[in-house]
Amino acid sequence: MDRMVPQRKMTFYQPNTNDDSSREQVRVPNVIALVGLPARGKTYISHKLCRYLNWIGIKTRAFNVGEYRRKACDFSNEGKSDFFNPQNLRAVKIRDECARLAMEDMGQYLENKEGEVAIFDATNTTRERRKWLVDFCKKEDRDPKFRIFFVESVCDDPEIINSNIAEVKISSPDYVGRMTEEQARDDFVRRIENYKSQYETLDEELDDELSFIRVINAGRSFYVHNVNGHVQSRVVYFLMNIHLLPRSIYLTRHGESEYNRIGRLGGDSPLSDNGLTYAQKLREYFEKENVPGDLRIWSSQKIRAAQTANHMKDLAAHVEYWKVLDEIDAGICEGLTYEDFQARYPKQFAERDKDKYHYRYPSGESYEDLVARLEPVIMELERQSNVLVVSHQAVLRCILAYFDNKNRSELPYLNVPLHTIIKLTPKAYSCEIEMFKFKIDAVDTYRAKPNEPVDNGNGNHSSLEWEYSNETTLCHSP
Ligand code: SIN
Repeated sequence: MDRMVPQRKMTFYQPNTNDDSSREQVRVPNVIALVGLPARGKTYISHKLCRYLNWIGIKTRAFNVGEYRRKACDFSNEGKSDFFNPQNLRAVKIRDECARLAMEDMGQYLENKEGEVAIFDATNTTRERRKWLVDFCKKEDRDPKFRIFFVESVCDDPEIINSNIAEVKISSPDYVGRMTEEQARDDFVRRIENYKSQYETLDEELDDELSFIRVINAGRSFYVHNVNGHVQSRVVYFLMNIHLLPRSIYLTRHGESEYNRIGRLGGDSPLSDNGLTYAQKLREYFEKENVPGDLRIWSSQKIRAAQTANHMKDLAAHVEYWKVLDEIDAGICEGLTYEDFQARYPKQFAERDKDKYHYRYPSGESYEDLVARLEPVIMELERQSNVLVVSHQAVLRCILAYFDNKNRSELPYLNVPLHTIIKLTPKAYSCEIEMFKFKIDAVDTYRAKPNEPVDNGNGNHSSLEWEYSNETTLCHSP
């Protein structure tokens, strides 16, 4: 598949063969420590990594030192750019204390096995600060030691830096309601200058023992050094695929199928008349949507999805049919209704209600299996520009959970109704979600979590505002 993002360059890759105690073990707690000047996208990377690692099943939490600092001091007295001046010894003491507290919390989180990975989101711009972190991870009485990986973001492209300042820094709690945007921008630029005076970049000779990746100009090129273990490899792989270019991802289920009408699971039936009407309306939606650049359509290989996608063939640069987008395999329950399933296999039915994420249909798949199957799709979505995915309820729940940061107990109950387009627009620290619900009859295939209030039909976006237009329903994430 060809790429929509600028060509990237990887300078160097050297797997680490040095010896240390954590190196011999496979499952050790991991720390990922960000490095870089303010406005270099560290928190963006931290949020994305956290979401990705949790989604693939590696429990992760981010510890942001800026948040500790905001809790510790009142910004109106301590916090404008002078607070970050290395000559301001009182402030240095407070900042060190905040870093220590964040480190302690991170240590407890990993020691108590609340998670496998902790992200230490701070500037970590001096070699001394990084040594402190390494010593903390390798403390004598720590068993197992934490494995540490540095992710340095360097950027000298003024366009990227300015857009980061405008998009997230001016609206940061450090500034909002305290000064004008102009004053905030000037203060932030002075803050960067204060960090610059002390900044020591990671160096392949001086820091040879460390494991790190340097991300240059938001992923235009990379330098990778001493990668150690599964988590670090996954992090490198992920970081090499993400990009900052604006785009939207559209998700839709196929139109209503003949099997949907009679309440049967799975199968490979064609569209019903309602489904065919939806396919036509979907085309009209994209004719009006005016997607900038090329639209790619990825469909599952099931007849109902391919029939839906085929209506738009000439509107897209590429239409591809991926087996990996096929619906969850219901194994021995394929073709049954929920009532048949409950009557024939009552124990299995109850098991599924108890833990829907991990429940695997006999001879079929679980949601957990589905997430593993869909990882290449997520990675490809991260690499691409505008894409429409035409797939199925369970598959789209997994994809939506990734973008909307939903956990494993929420994921199998996300409501992805028929005849609805979900438009995802990634933003700096979140993803805007709009739902366009077409007024075309369709059966409701949603089955609520037992003992929970029945869903109101607005999906799990019940906290969102709904507006009505002639044909569509629009909802914005808050
Ligand atoms: C901050 O206080 O906002 C960042 C702290 C740091 O330098 O890591």
